Amino acid sequence: MGRCMEYKVKDLSLAPRGRMQIEWARRHMPVLELIRKRFEAEKPLKGVRVGAVLHVTKETAVLVETLAAGGAEVWLAASNPLSTQDDVAAALAEEGIHVFAWRGETSEEYFWAIDVVASAQPHIVIDDGGDLHAHLHDKRIEVAEKVWGGTEETTTGVIRLRALEREGLLRYPVIAVNNALTKYLFDNRYGTGQSTIDGILRATNILLAGKVVVVAGYGWVGRGIAMRARGMGARVVVTEVDPVKALEAVMDGFEVMPMSRAAEIGDVFITATGNKDVIRAEHFLKMKDGAILANAGHFNVEISVSDLEKLAKEKREVRPCVTEYILENGKRLYLLAEGRLVNLVCAEGHPSEVMDMSFANQALSVEYLVKNRGRLERKVYNVPAEIDSEVARLKLRSMGIEIDVLTEEQKRYLSSWKL
Ligand code: NAD
Ligand code: ADE
Repeated sequence: MGRCMEYKVKDLSLAPRGRMQIEWARRHMPVLELIRKRFEAEKPLKGVRVGAVLHVTKETAVLVETLAAGGAEVWLAASNPLSTQDDVAAALAEEGIHVFAWRGETSEEYFWAIDVVASAQPHIVIDDGGDLHAHLHDKRIEVAEKVWGGTEETTTGVIRLRALEREGLLRYPVIAVNNALTKYLFDNRYGTGQSTIDGILRATNILLAGKVVVVAGYGWVGRGIAMRARGMGARVVVTEVDPVKALEAVMDGFEVMPMSRAAEIGDVFITATGNKDVIRAEHFLKMKDGAILANAGHFNVEISVSDLEKLAKEKREVRPCVTEYILENGKRLYLLAEGRLVNLVCAEGHPSEVMDMSFANQALSVEYLVKNRGRLERKVYNVPAEIDSEVARLKLRSMGIEIDVLTEEQKRYLSSWKL
């Protein structure tokens, strides 16, 4: 299976619209564009087969084109059954990318597409959330044994990979792209902050000013969402389990309380924890009539949809992306995007400018893995610091921003214990 099939997308006739979307993204991804030009000249990925499981968006298309410009043969599947932009997938298929993705995949189709990528026997694997890494280690170990190296895009995927490493099962070196400063400080915080609000507004068109928005988790994603919701006039409440993060939220000026209390006062609930059952039956039962529920964490486990299904006597789709649940107590709760990533399902994911940095780290990490083939251990590595600061430097340059440079005297001062 897989190698004989070239692609599987929803509708190839959407390709012209997809090409325009990709062109739009490319214009806003100057760092990746510089890397693409260098890759085109140097061909550092010549003969390299890359298997990628990523959200199939216009920004991912620019990454895939960059890898292909470097000489790679790319096999691509979606990292979420609902996040694929079908026009973009069609355009990629027309460009000769082996893309197996469409919006609305069933669970079986989703894992079938991941298996197609695995069957291509990739030398390098790129993942967002860890489903490809997990599939290779669980079901296709013979393929995993031959992988040169991999990367991981998001917090949840890195957590899963560290568990594999801890148990001594990791079969290839992995670079945790998520942990680059030029990734999580911008993508997780500003990217998710903006695109989560964007998704909620596109789905509901509610006024955020004056609403009580409850954000679960004050990590990089949660603080971005809290900051942007406040910027739109919402009263923001934060829930946390980590005392330090909770204290940060308090000192950033947010109200902090347990979900059991927040459930009673929230108008909009947004989960951003990477954890399961953060909002569950006991909370749904306390909520106000009309409360809106959205998730920004990687998997659809943060809001317990199964509890909601059990408590509901009726459900219906009232708008695209919005499911109304009528509980036995008569209250109506509105779940967005079936509890999946609201920013990618109800909107377009992060803006291209921020994916520019995340995917520049991806492209340079792939090049690094190829250059260092056979020299790395079966461990989870951070993105090399030189790559991280190069991405920041290029991004600043693309924005026309100059910064100061240390004088020799300052360098000596900063490296000495004497005054
Ligand atoms: P993080 O580790 O920085 O933050 C998670 C926070 O949630 C931590 O502070 C943790 O203490 C808290 N938490 C855990 N369990 C909790 C609970 N039961 N109640 C309240 N708080 C709890 O992680 P992050 O980088 O902010 O990522 C969060 C999630 O978002 C992950 O699943 C990640 O993969 C995902 N993510 C999504 C997008 C997107 O496009 N939607 C982008 C980046 C990351
Ligand atoms: N994750 C969040 N936003 C994204 C986007 N626009 N493209 C790919 N992955 C993403």
